[in-house]
Amino acid sequence: MDYSKVFETHCGIAHTRWATHGEPNWVNTHPQSSGNEHDFVVIHNGILTNYKDIKAFLMKKGHVFDSETDTECIAKLIKHVFDTHKDQSKLSFRELVEGVVQQLEGAFALAFKSSRFPGECVVTRRGSPLVIGVKSKTKLATDRFPILFSKDHRGASNSFFSSALTLPGDDTSTLAPVGNHKEVEYFFASDASAIIEHTNQVIFLEDDDVAAVRNGMLTIHRIHRDQDEGNELQSREITTLKMEIQEIMKGNYSSFMQKEIFEQPESVMMTMRGRVKFEEQQILLGGIKDYMQEIRRCRRLLFIACGTSYHSAIATRQLLEELTELPVMVDLASDFLDRSTPVFRDDVCFFISQSGETADTLLALRYCKQHGALIVGVTNTVGSTICRESHCGVHINAGPEIGVASTKAYTSQFISLVMFGLMMSEDRISKQARRREIIEGLKQLPDQIKEVLEMDDQINALARELYQQDSFLVMGRGYNYATCLEGALKIKELTYMHSEGILAGELKHGPLALIDKKMPVMMIVTRDPVFRKCWNALEQVKARKGQPFLICNKGDTETQQQVDKFIAVPHTVDCLQGILTVIPMQLLSFHIAVLRGYDVDCPRNLAKSVTVE
Ligand code: AGP
Repeated sequence: MDYSKVFETHCGIAHTRWATHGEPNWVNTHPQSSGNEHDFVVIHNGILTNYKDIKAFLMKKGHVFDSETDTECIAKLIKHVFDTHKDQSKLSFRELVEGVVQQLEGAFALAFKSSRFPGECVVTRRGSPLVIGVKSKTKLATDRFPILFSKDHRGASNSFFSSALTLPGDDTSTLAPVGNHKEVEYFFASDASAIIEHTNQVIFLEDDDVAAVRNGMLTIHRIHRDQDEGNELQSREITTLKMEIQEIMKGNYSSFMQKEIFEQPESVMMTMRGRVKFEEQQILLGGIKDYMQEIRRCRRLLFIACGTSYHSAIATRQLLEELTELPVMVDLASDFLDRSTPVFRDDVCFFISQSGETADTLLALRYCKQHGALIVGVTNTVGSTICRESHCGVHINAGPEIGVASTKAYTSQFISLVMFGLMMSEDRISKQARRREIIEGLKQLPDQIKEVLEMDDQINALARELYQQDSFLVMGRGYNYATCLEGALKIKELTYMHSEGILAGELKHGPLALIDKKMPVMMIVTRDPVFRKCWNALEQVKARKGQPFLICNKGDTETQQQVDKFIAVPHTVDCLQGILTVIPMQLLSFHIAVLRGYDVDCPRNLAKSVTVE
């Protein structure tokens, strides 16, 4: 049925832009256009790696470029292909897009519109996420959406065009609601949180899917029917998201970041809910339970991630080594790939990512998968690419994280990895006492986090002393080393101050040269197995006239007397202390950024999902 004859159809595209090419200014904003007449316009998330070649080709053909973006060449290319096509009347918008994207290299999610095809919109992705929201007043007729395949057409990439299409019956290939209300609205977005206020029914597109809205109807196409594709790839599931609109609103907080820091007593509870049985001392991670035998037999565990997610692996590495008695490798995804790190079939590789879309982490995942390793995703975003491409995984269940700076996702990733360690060690008699103290520690954690959050005013006062400084060092060792790295990352990404996380054991191998009475230093000295070593570091810093601030334990007056200013957090079991020491660093960086007048939710030059390499 042609709904355009029954209902009016409207269609528009827009973009919140992060500059990958060129300054964020008017000419570089999206949509990028094919020219003055705006025959074709496109918005793009990602980076084209062959745009210079395409641009050179199009310039030779007389096209004039206005912007510095890579995206403009897509708009010009589609126009060029359309204008030079022999029989434009036989060409559909979607076929045109299919032909054009075959010329593109790199990562992209694209949305096209054209005055030549009014009321239509075509979207596609390769390497960058793309989700379709479906909103209707009544239930949809299906919960799986069939894919339409073009006939296999070798040489399509040279000819720009797919040949005739084999389309199954139309009734099954478009999304119609049942009942009298036939209106359907479609939303295309990079992330579900952008459309959740309209609908919670979504379809996650796969690489090389091409979705088109025409005459008010949605169809999803693929050019090739891959021999290896299972049945699940012949259709796309319509997923109902559990996300609530309140979860992506600021409420009474000044920013999403502040809200997310203060949500941590609840978010860590959500991470543990239904998984930690405190009375029985049992842990069950449903997403990996069927793979536990294989994981227990593995040669080594690899944890691969970027930024804050990488720090969560650093924070838990020591505990995972202790509880699993396996070699544990922790790597930054980009470096792991640069090294072409050897990976074996009996390796188990964990990919930790809040968004589940980080390009470097995803590429590392695919690399490990090709080498036959078991892939475990640890993500916060249900339906993300990392979730879908993993063999099994753990959802950290922290709730949507909107602020670019990761806060509650970190503490939930941390706890997820601790729970994994506990699950691995459940049969080991020798580990039972240790497991008990950790599980008891987990139980206390939400209340202890609340206690730390109550120190907000005190931390704000400290921020006032620091916010005009140029540099800030964060030192510690053992379980708190990850807090130093994560604290320094928060400081630099939010406040634009120079900041370094320094392993206190390395102090005399270089960083000590930075210390004088003016250099601001935060030292983390908590009552754990490296406490005395941390004291040594503190004494060395003081001997160089350093005047460090401390994060230490409540009640540890001996340590507190060593300095003028300290933040005293509750004591917990050594391997969980990092959760309570990182929260003051989150708050401190937040307050410094506010005092410096910066936008804490959108730090300059950064994006929430880094979907480009
Ligand atoms: C954290 O504050 C950063 N914004 C960043 O380091 C982030 O953690 C990193 O880009 C990885 O993102 P992911 O967890 O979504 O993969």
